This record gives sequence, C-alpha cells and structure tokens, in this order.
Amino acid sequence: MIEIHAIILAAGKGTRMNSNKPKVLHTIADISLLEHALIKAKIVCSHVHVVYGHMGEMVRDSVTDKKINWIEQSEQLGTGHAVSQAVPYIIDNSVSLIMYADVPLIKVSTLNSLVELAKRSGVSLLTVDLEDPSGYGRVIRKDNLIQSIVEHKDAKQDESNITEVNTGFIAIKTNLLKKYLKTIETNNSQSELYLTDIIESAVDDGRIIESLITTDRFEVAGVNDKVQLAEIERAFQQKQAVTFMQEGLTIKDPNRFDCRGALKFGTDCIVDINVLFEGNVEIGDNSSISSNCVIKNSTIGNNVNILPNSVIENAVIGDGASVGPFSRIRPDTRIGDNAKVGNFVEVKKTTIGNNSKVSHLSYLGDATVGDEVNIGAGVISCNYDGANKHKTVIKDGAFIGSNSELIAPIVIGENSTIGAGSTITEDAPNEALTLSRTKQSTYKKWRRPSKK
Ligand code: UD1
Ligand code: CA
Repeated sequence: MIEIHAIILAAGKGTRMNSNKPKVLHTIADISLLEHALIKAKIVCSHVHVVYGHMGEMVRDSVTDKKINWIEQSEQLGTGHAVSQAVPYIIDNSVSLIMYADVPLIKVSTLNSLVELAKRSGVSLLTVDLEDPSGYGRVIRKDNLIQSIVEHKDAKQDESNITEVNTGFIAIKTNLLKKYLKTIETNNSQSELYLTDIIESAVDDGRIIESLITTDRFEVAGVNDKVQLAEIERAFQQKQAVTFMQEGLTIKDPNRFDCRGALKFGTDCIVDINVLFEGNVEIGDNSSISSNCVIKNSTIGNNVNILPNSVIENAVIGDGASVGPFSRIRPDTRIGDNAKVGNFVEVKKTTIGNNSKVSHLSYLGDATVGDEVNIGAGVISCNYDGANKHKTVIKDGAFIGSNSELIAPIVIGENSTIGAGSTITEDAPNEALTLSRTKQSTYKKWRRPSKK
C-alpha cells in the first residue's frame, strides 16, 4: 500500500488572536486546533509531519503522540517554503496531503476523497465557493480545468471576481511535489514562496488538476481571530447536536447545547437549554437534564432527573435519583437509586445509599450514607479539623435532624435518630435518639431594651 504523508502547516504566528498562546493551541470543544487536525490526519495518513515555528516548544509539548515528525520552520517565508521543509522526510513514492493546523472541522471523508483523486491523477485540490472570497487564493479555470491559483493580493480585477477559492488542502504525489516545489519563486506581492504556484507548474507539465468542491464552508474555515474561533465552536456544537438528535436525544435548543468530550445516552433522554457536558458522560434511558447544568466525567442512570443549575463532576447517579436544583456533586460521589439530593446541597467523596434523601442546604464530605436515610435541612458533616479529613458513616435508616453537625470521624448507628440542632461528637448508637442541646429556658419578666 502506498504511504500517505500529512504535512500540517502550523508555523503561523496568529497575531490576530491577540494572545500569548500560539494560535493552534486555542481550542474547539476543549481540543486544540492542532489536535483536531492531527486526529483527522492520523485517520487518513500513515505518517504525520508538522511544520511548526512560533512558540514551537509549547506547540510540541501540547502533543503527546511520539510518532509525529516535528519540523521547525524558523522563518515564515510562505506556504511553499513551509512544505519544502517537510519533503526531505518523505519518500518519493507516496502521496503528500497538505493540511492547515488552523482548520479544525475538515472531514475525514473529504481528505480521503482528495487523496484518492491524487493517487489517480497526481494532484488534487479542495476548493469552496464563497460569497465573499476576499483574502483567499482564487481558482483560475479554463474550459472548466484548473489552470492556477492567484492570491488575493496578486489578483487582477477580473480574477478578484472569481468566487471559487483555494481551501489550502492539496493532495499530491510526493515525487511531483518535490519537482514542482523547485519551480516556485518569490516574485509576488508578498515576496513569499507560495505553495499554490505548484498548481501552474503541474499544468505546464501537462497534468490535469483534479478538484473537489465542498459545499460546507465551515469544513474549510480557518481560525484567524477570536470571532472566527467562536463561530467555528458554534458550528462544531451545532453539528454535534444534530448528530445526537438524529440518534434520538431530545435537545430543546441545539443553539444552546455544548458537549466538550464524548456523550453517550439511552432512549428518550431530554436535555434542556444551556447544558454543558465535559469529558466522558454517560446517561441511561428516560433521564432528563434541566437547564443550566454542567456535567463532567459522570455516569447518570435511567429515569434520573437532574434539575436546573446543578454541577456534577466525576460522579455516578443511580437509577431514579433526583439531583438539584442548585446541587453541587463533587468528585468521587455515588448517589444511590431513587435517592434525592436537593437544593443547595454540596456532596464530595461521598456515597449516598438507595432511597436516601438530603433535600436541603447540607454539606456531606468524605461520608458514607446508607439506604433509607433522611438527612434534614442544614446538616453538615464536619470532615476537616484544619489539618486532616475524617470520615462520617451514617448507617441505614438513620434520621438526622435539621441543622446538626456531625464531627468526624463519627458513626451514626442504624435507625438512630439525631435530634435537630445537635452537635454530635461521639458515635450514636443504633435504634436510639441521640441529641445534644442546651435546655430551653423562658424568662417571663424579661423586656426588650427600649430606645433612650
Ligand atoms: C493560503 C493560500 C490561499 C488559500 C488560503 C486558505 C498560499 C500562498 N495561499 O493563504 O490560496 O486561499 O491559504 O486559507 O498558500 N504557514 C506556515 N509557514 C509559512 C506560511 C504559512 O506554516 O511560512 C501556515 C500558516 O500557519 C497557516 C497556513 O500555512 O496555517 C496558511 O498560511 P497563511 O499565511 O494564512 O496563508 P493565506 O495567505 O491565508
Ligand atoms: Ca490564512
């Protein structure tokens, strides 16, 4: 099988991003622009070369894959110069696929088609028709055949009117690429080595340039500034939302849906507006996520209700459970089947058993709560002594009265009851009422002070 080599151009400064970070490290759906390009390149190509320049170390360090061939282009002398840096590493009998690191939404199927066309006829070019082609290289055709590419800055008036433009994606047999790169010169308005000049060289050499025209302008849209970054983020999110809806997820408003990671879901799940999924999230059947929730790296069971404004991270929520509104479920938490965690409840590193309830205004940290437990409003597991964290264990069937503090380490026995307002410092036995409360007093003759 013929080797396919990706040459990803990533040396540009990205001045218009106005950032201290190299452009290609800005993200779409939490994945860097460069990583988006690499993911596609690795699917289509057997070898990947990245031409980097600006803040090179940061760019290289951002990628963990050890198989990437990094090529430094210390001065950005044009796209032709950039590609010239990479070709010495590529065998003649192969196809080179030139990609841009700042074009994140390119489709694998498009790249595959481009490579197939190049295998057949030597050179292929991906183009797009744009309402406003300004800034792009125009595709010059004669009798419908591509003759050359003229850069915007070099275009004459009639050429400027052409709306078919070069996307930058080119596939070409490497022996031809090497041959034509030798022919290009800097005799243009920017005094750069234009890669695009190889097209005319190929035509002069008697070749027919194959072309592929995409109708999806976002697929070939590059990121030059933060406005375009946001546009492409939205395009990515909308496409993803469409895929999820086609797979059966109900999304109330795909314009207000974000998933930065991988989302799996069962049948008849509903996602209301402004929900953000991050990392790996799995949802069972018949579950609903209400508006303004953030869910990260978590597993949500069947028939779960996540009510508005809840934040869930690294947690497992059991079948039939209800969480929120305004719950914060922090990492390493497991919430049992049919359990309820209500408003203004924070839970961290805690297991809550089946059918247990923590309905209002509580904090549970480093706790193990059994089944059928009822935790009243304002209960706090005092897990931290200022130096160390300690565990709270609440056994099955316990009832913790409102506004109680459980000073950990502590064990609350099975079916025990803690009287409201208690500060519990020692283990509470099973099946008994435990409380710590100062006796109530009434002073009948007491009068409120009055203003002098
Ligand atoms: C280029 C194409 C133009 C096309 C447009 C599509 C050329 C001469 N022009 O123009 O036909 O319509 O892209 O977006 O190829 N880069 C390097 N090293 C360099 C120069 C550029 O790595 O020395 C990288 C940039 O980081 C960028 C890509 O190559 O990712 C394109 O370079 P850019 O300067 O943006 O080219 P354009 O003028 O936009
Ligand atoms: Ca550009």
